[in-house]
Amino acid sequence: MSEVVRISREGEVAIVEIDNPPVNATSQAVRRALLDAVQRAQSESETRAIVIAGAGRTFTAGGDISEFGKPPREPHLPDVINRIEESGKPIVVAWHGTALGGGCEIGLGAHKRIITKDGLIGLPEVKLGLLPGAGGTQRLPRLIGPVAALDLIATGRMVGAEEALRIGLVDAIAETDLRREAVALARSLIGQMQPRLSLQATPAAEPEAWQAMVDRVNREAKGRIAPLRAIELVSQSLTLAFGVAQANERRAFFELMSSDQSLALRHIFSAERETGKRPELSSARPRDISHIGIIGAGTMGSGIAVAFLDAGFRVTLVEADESALQAGVERVSGLYQRSIRSGRMDDATRVARLALLNPTTEMAKLAETGLVIEAVFEDMAIKLELMKQLGRLLPASTLVASNTSYLDLEQMADALPGPERFLGLHFFSPAHVMKLVEVVRARRTSPEAVATGLAIARKLKKIAVVTGVCEGFIGNRILAKFRAQCEFMLEEGALPREIDIAMEGFGLAMGPFAVQDLAGLDIAYARRKRLAATRTPDERDVPLVDRLVEEGRLGQKAGRGWYLYDNGKRSADPAVDAIIRMHAAGSGRPQRNFNAADIQNRIVAAMVNEGAKILGEGIAARAFEIDLVLVHGYGFPAWRGGPMHYADRVGLKNILSIAKTAAMRDGKGFEVAPLLEDLAQSQRRFADLDAN
Ligand code: 3HC
Ligand code: NAI
Repeated sequence: MSEVVRISREGEVAIVEIDNPPVNATSQAVRRALLDAVQRAQSESETRAIVIAGAGRTFTAGGDISEFGKPPREPHLPDVINRIEESGKPIVVAWHGTALGGGCEIGLGAHKRIITKDGLIGLPEVKLGLLPGAGGTQRLPRLIGPVAALDLIATGRMVGAEEALRIGLVDAIAETDLRREAVALARSLIGQMQPRLSLQATPAAEPEAWQAMVDRVNREAKGRIAPLRAIELVSQSLTLAFGVAQANERRAFFELMSSDQSLALRHIFSAERETGKRPELSSARPRDISHIGIIGAGTMGSGIAVAFLDAGFRVTLVEADESALQAGVERVSGLYQRSIRSGRMDDATRVARLALLNPTTEMAKLAETGLVIEAVFEDMAIKLELMKQLGRLLPASTLVASNTSYLDLEQMADALPGPERFLGLHFFSPAHVMKLVEVVRARRTSPEAVATGLAIARKLKKIAVVTGVCEGFIGNRILAKFRAQCEFMLEEGALPREIDIAMEGFGLAMGPFAVQDLAGLDIAYARRKRLAATRTPDERDVPLVDRLVEEGRLGQKAGRGWYLYDNGKRSADPAVDAIIRMHAAGSGRPQRNFNAADIQNRIVAAMVNEGAKILGEGIAARAFEIDLVLVHGYGFPAWRGGPMHYADRVGLKNILSIAKTAAMRDGKGFEVAPLLEDLAQSQRRFADLDAN
């Protein structure tokens, strides 16, 4: 018997335990050993019932992702689960930690299910662009009904023990000792006929509830194919024999496995786990910090404070004066109130979190903290003054970070005694929600400071990407190119809504002009003014934002920006169209019609081009980090894998080597995007560059 599955015994109950760290994935070795163990327990006369459990921190995270895309090897999980279900001796599954994907499906094959109070169950395959491939789409509807099953399969959300009991996904919640209670449950089933889900009919759905769920899944799919296949397969549980539908499920699983969408989502899954592993930091020990300081309790400071409080850090929050401090504390409380109103938090948790907050106007209090993050106004003079002050107040070992979006971190480091302890921690708004943090390494930042930034991001359950210093770091630098292309297209005949519709069709949650209206056009305006002094005459510049802001079109908050707003409802503004058309006519640029593909390709090419330069310059070390930034910070659809992965898939295979060669050749990277009509043209251009 392989060591990945062990058998022990409690009297007449055999305990089959999966032990395949770190997450007991159902690899080929586990499937083989599980099948052998179950068959052995069935043939032993002293065994009258079986418990299947998991060792370590989790029952099982499901299919072994490292085997995906390779030819499947026997025994296949659906067959193993069918054998479990057919067992004449009762089989109980004991779930703890997470029972995901194949781990959940093993439980659906068992005759009863018991879970720990903090256990989580789910079929998250859709998040990898897949569907359950071992009977989940057929057994789950039979167990909990088709509506609830479609909800879980199409969203991939995990359910806790209480909900699982309520919807009938588990039979019991263990009070104190999962193993002992699972054995008792198994023993109580001895001698009875065991229920087999595959032989039962799926309970009929309430037609309206089913239609409402189907509509919701269709609406939320937004370009993803796996949720749509989930509708099809769960429907089949109502109309087809189990065996027929299970074969269809298996076929759909492998079709999806080779789809671009699944490849992209698996790329993001592994990128999320790789980003924190940096060989150059392997000898740097992150500091153990439990108390942090934040300066500035505005939009960002208050959100950052909540992110740290939620992760159990003590937070000293400093504001310039008493009234700003009060406003800041109210902002923090407001964020918690919102969580309570939406049912995501109870009052006791809110009180416990706020007990860790120490609001003050005394900068000296920051001396007690291990890391100070500044989130004051985006104004270099204020930030430089602050660095000098911190140099005087803090022990020389205290780490200092800036949340600046665009200002030069090297200049700030110059002002701080001990620049090796200085780094950027660039959070995204709202900081307690957005998963991305750019950890910015300035020229003199120590490996220890970077490693600490990464470790802290992990504690906050955020995804951290290390970036070098440049205007806008990785994300905002690419965003600037994206936005520039949008405005160039306005100058060449496109309208904001055409661009927004095209990009929403590409998979962005919101088009770029609608986003700018939401954030306020004054932000782009201020940045344009700041950059005006350094703009060279040969740089293409479209001053439409200036025109709109100067007419008071500041965006949604003013009721008008690129669009008109009436009670939050957006509509096109003929006056804005007229401004754009007049500007375009006066620009002397040839006018054309843009279709959605033209728009999408041009924008993505600009992002890819800038991404390639960022890599060439060493601002990002690895292409997948750029993908993570765009997916987690800017709403680039994860199912397209981020711009660099997407470019690779659509054919720009040589992009990395080209970026490097070009960057080495002329020292400043390469500039193709402005010349592009679409990606096909870009591909030819890359080929030309390659040939030269
Ligand atoms: N297969 C192989 N390795 C896996 C894995 C899986 N299903 N799930 C996680 N791992 C690995 C991770 O890559 C990571 O490896 P590393 O230490 O080398 O980086 C390690 O396990 C720990 O994972 P996390 O860092 O993600 O640990 P967390 O504690 O934060 O999260 C988790 C644990 C919730 C289980 C999370 O890893 C997760 O969501 N995993 C994916 C679950 C999933 O999608 N399962 C469905 C698979 S498809 C399937 O089951 C097909 C079936 O229907 C036939
Ligand atoms: P904000 O204007 O909402 O808040 C700034 C706060 O800093 C104010 O409450 C102000 O009273 C306080 N402050 C100013 N000087 C101070 C001082 N000397 N001591 C103590 N407090 C002081 O600004 P916001 O939007 O929170 O931005 C803060 C920083 O975060 C900026 O550098 C900005 O570029 C960056 N950022 C902003 C994002 C956003 O979406 N708003 C996103 C990411 C970064």
